Amino acid sequence: MKNRTEEHRERLEAHVFVCATDRDSEHASCGGAGADETVAAAKAWLRDRDAFWTSVSVSTTSCLGLCSESGTAISIQPRNAWYSDVTPADVPELLASEFGPDAEHVGDR
Ligand code: FES
Repeated sequence: MKNRTEEHRERLEAHVFVCATDRDSEHASCGGAGADETVAAAKAWLRDRDAFWTSVSVSTTSCLGLCSESGTAISIQPRNAWYSDVTPADVPELLASEFGPDAEHVGDR
């Protein structure tokens, strides 16, 4: 086992988790509500501002407990920020509200 906490703390300011759960049941899940497109939109927004991977990571994750058939759940850590019903079209507004229009506030919290 390696403890890489310090290494990651130096590089990473925030981690955007996008639920991609796609369950075959009567209950709503994000995977059926455009999760793949939402992940792509988040990566593109950050990449366009040179913030992708260098200071903000994006990962898919399993259920965040905010299931909806109207969009995807997103959590941004360590900001303890939680969103549901996110569509790909919502991503620019969401990320701009968290990080600033040009991702200039990535390291503010
Ligand atoms: S399936 Fe995405 S939050 Fe539950």
